[in-house]
Amino acid sequence: MIKKNATLLMIFICFALVLSACGQKPAAQSLSEPQNASAGKSTAASEPKKETKLDEIKKKGKIVVGTSADYPPYEFHKEIDKKDGIVGFDIEIAKALAKDLGVQLEIKDMKFDGLLAALDAGNVDFVMSGMTPTEERQKNVDFTKIYYTAVQSVVVRSEDKDKIKSIDDLKGKKVGAQKGATQEKIVKEQMPASELKALGKISDLMLELKNKKIDALVVEVPVATAYLSKNQDLALTDMKLQNEDSGSAIAVKKGSPELVDALNKSLDKLLADKTIDKLVAEANDLVE
Ligand code: ARG
Repeated sequence: MIKKNATLLMIFICFALVLSACGQKPAAQSLSEPQNASAGKSTAASEPKKETKLDEIKKKGKIVVGTSADYPPYEFHKEIDKKDGIVGFDIEIAKALAKDLGVQLEIKDMKFDGLLAALDAGNVDFVMSGMTPTEERQKNVDFTKIYYTAVQSVVVRSEDKDKIKSIDDLKGKKVGAQKGATQEKIVKEQMPASELKALGKISDLMLELKNKKIDALVVEVPVATAYLSKNQDLALTDMKLQNEDSGSAIAVKKGSPELVDALNKSLDKLLADKTIDKLVAEANDLVE
């Protein structure tokens, strides 16, 4: 009986030894094959490495940015050498990002409220449009770090500057904001006694204000200053608004962490050496 048990135990030990030797075999093999070619191939076959968005962009040699070019000094139309072009510091930053990736930049101009849908549909690879990374937007898209921050302001007709000095003075009046922009929410929440008029393009809102179709317009200070430099009949008020949503970041479709990382790395560089400050100043000079 004891002998039988001992034999069984021996058989079991032998089995275990054989099994463990089998388990070690691939490791021993890869040691003798420094390039590990066969092992690499077999993992690639069983689990093909998915091409990332970043790989795809580099392969195409082109990255497409979506923007709403109604937003000087961020992005705006300007005639250069008798040809219409899109300029601004967002555009210059986008060019620098494309250069770091080693690809060409293509610009697609559209209404601000269509940008995230274009991103979702894959019509653009990223959105750069003075866009604030709000909590709500973060549910649907990823953002890089903030590369620029501005403060909100209220613009009125110069002739009304002495009459419209507070949110209270806007009671019952029409206040404009860009459709789909954070300014729309600011009017709704901080000026509940005013009537919101939301339009797709800031340039149209400025016209509405000049033509007395609206009485005030909520817009970020750098943009207000840019438009005012060409419109003596418009003026900036001293009204202070709550500004918890501010700052511009780049939006990327969810699920491309490699692209977000690459863009953040470039932004870090442009922020650290103050290139962005320089591009903002140059864009302001272009506003004329
Ligand atoms: N920062 C605001 C937002 O994210 C307004 C941006 C408007 N940008 C533009 N290019 N028109 O909603």
